[in-house]
Amino acid sequence: MSKVKSRKQIAKMRKAGRVVAEMHEEIRRAIRPGVTTRQLDAVGRAVIERRGATSNFLGYHGYPAVICASPNDVVVHGIPDGYVLEDGDIVAIDCGAVVDGWHGDAAFTAAVGDICEETARLVDVTERSLLNAIKTMVAGNHLGDIGHAVQSTAEGAGFSVVEGYTGHAIGRAMHERPEVPNLGRPGKGPKLRVGDVYAVEPMVNAGLPDTYELDDGWTVKTEDGSLAAHFEHTIAITDDGPEVLTVP
Ligand code: MF3
Ligand code: CO
Repeated sequence: MSKVKSRKQIAKMRKAGRVVAEMHEEIRRAIRPGVTTRQLDAVGRAVIERRGATSNFLGYHGYPAVICASPNDVVVHGIPDGYVLEDGDIVAIDCGAVVDGWHGDAAFTAAVGDICEETARLVDVTERSLLNAIKTMVAGNHLGDIGHAVQSTAEGAGFSVVEGYTGHAIGRAMHERPEVPNLGRPGKGPKLRVGDVYAVEPMVNAGLPDTYELDDGWTVKTEDGSLAAHFEHTIAITDDGPEVLTVP
């Protein structure tokens, strides 16, 4: 269990979160048919440099980029490359930044051009599962409430939750203990405390929940080739309830 963060420390994490949010804004504007995921990584890099931040992704267990870009049936950890985004694709963008030793981590999934209605529903439900999870993040509630909110939202809409990858506490390191599962039972697991900061990150598949990893050691895909969406925020639990730190 990581230690709770002070108000001062959370203020520092807010700065890291703001850099991540800025990466999101600029990458979102750059997403369109014809753009490669490597170009989106360059947009993220420019924001990190401009803000005097550093990347927590680059070099993490040898990871070669500052963002993950995961199109279509890639669930998470897609490595930016020469893949050209096409009209009708979706792409999940995961970004992180470090300011003064404190980490931020957040992801969104965007439409490339026009996407079909059922694909839009997958993206919307995945985002809603995160927003519903955030609502539960009040001191005295339990970690299981977060997972339950994600699971009930996604499964209630007919989609499935990926089990093998989780959210995590975050602070002076990107990944602190405990993990934050995207499935859970209400009232179970450790109690949420004022000063806890968690990266909550639902990964939702349109088809079956099963995934596999490519030989590159990173890219995670849906076993059945169905589409997947991913959203993430870094959230602090304060006296006044949840505060999303990865916002502009
Ligand atoms: N946001 C991801 C996570 O929470 C981190 C991406 S893995 C990395 O685990 F290697 F790119 F850093
Ligand atoms: Co994360």
